[in-house]
Amino acid sequence: MSLVTPPLSLYVHVPWCVRKCPYCDFNSHQGRGELPMAAYVDALLADLDFDLPLVWGRTIRTVFFGGGTPSLMPADLVDRFLQQASSRLRFAPDCEITLEANPGTAEYGRLADYRAAGVNRLSFGVQSFDDGCLERLGRIHDSAQAEGAIRAAQDAGFAELNLDLMYALPGQDLAMAERDVERAIALSPTHVSHYQLTLEPNTVFAARPPERLPDDDLAWDMQERCQALLAQAGFQHYETSAYARPGHRSEHNLNYWRFGDYLGIGAGAHGKITLGAEQTILRRWKHKHPTKYLETAGTPAAIGGDERIEPARRPFEFMLNALRLHEGFAWTQFEARTGLPRAAIAASMSTARERGWLQDDGERVSPTETGRRFTNDVLELFLDAPIEADIGA
Ligand SMILES: C[S@@+](CC[C@H](N)C(=O)[O-])C[C@H]1O[C@@H](n2cnc3c(N)ncnc32)[C@H](O)[C@@H]1O
Ligand code: SF4
Repeated sequence: MSLVTPPLSLYVHVPWCVRKCPYCDFNSHQGRGELPMAAYVDALLADLDFDLPLVWGRTIRTVFFGGGTPSLMPADLVDRFLQQASSRLRFAPDCEITLEANPGTAEYGRLADYRAAGVNRLSFGVQSFDDGCLERLGRIHDSAQAEGAIRAAQDAGFAELNLDLMYALPGQDLAMAERDVERAIALSPTHVSHYQLTLEPNTVFAARPPERLPDDDLAWDMQERCQALLAQAGFQHYETSAYARPGHRSEHNLNYWRFGDYLGIGAGAHGKITLGAEQTILRRWKHKHPTKYLETAGTPAAIGGDERIEPARRPFEFMLNALRLHEGFAWTQFEARTGLPRAAIAASMSTARERGWLQDDGERVSPTETGRRFTNDVLELFLDAPIEADIGA
């Protein structure tokens, strides 16, 4: 059984924000003074050049500018980056190119210029349409600005639009959570990401939890009600937190969830690349801090670390991603992307089936409703599970 190289994506991290939100643990830093964006694009290109030998001859299927706040990057620099990147790497003709935008940094002219630069999908961090909730979340925009930015994106010709919403917010009741989803639907996005607010370590909210946080039962009710509203409006719930109109799923995220490959460039970015000739999977990540990254990009000193994903670890890493998808995975995909035969995980699979967590029709495996509810228990079965001895055969 051998590893087959899967589709390839490119992730580009932009590590600055206007202001750090108190719940956020992403690698994002409050910008002070003028941001060194032109120098950062040079660093990104040097970083890309450094990683190119890992992916010679392969085609980029999707690009994702994530953050931080990529919409702080002027459009001419996004244009320069995309032009330079596509002269180094082949981009698929229908390449999905997404940029994350904060509604507080997204006026019409800038959005139209992103479109002209080749960006064909925008993802807005809306979080809520309730001005009180937005204030408690420390957001830099209100609901009117969010609606204005979404309409401006549509006017600028963006057909593919994702809205990020969070629920279980401080001071939010069930009706408020429903209203957020209704207002999102009324704006006709093609995709909605609906995340439960979590208190992440090393954030302001973890140190000083906000008052009036909904309890777990209420959070569960919110999730169920919002899911039903989205379903009524024609959105398919295809991943733990992702909803899409038919034909509008996030190709970039699907590639992650299908254990595809991705180059990660930018401060703190992570990549995962299958090296066919060496029959190994490499993970590589870059230095997190923007200043150190700027100084070292394109040299070995910019590498925060790398590691190989050993065969024994691959089933868990594969499942961690694939079981988020309601459609699950095909056995042929498991074998190509882990380099292991299905027999390698026979024991864990049979336990998962007996417990009613996974279903297997011989071709595809997918999580049952119970399996989706207890993902961590399912995953535990594949963590350091004994792998059959003949996996190298
Ligand atoms: C990297 S942010 C990108 C969007 C952009 N920076 C913004 O906030 O407008 C991606 C999304 O993750 C979600 N998110 C961030 N922190 C979260 C948390 N602690 N709990 C749940 N969702 C979170 C938010 O919905 C956010 O829009
Ligand atoms: S704007 Fe987005 S990335 Fe920046 S701190 Fe807020 S949630 Fe995090």
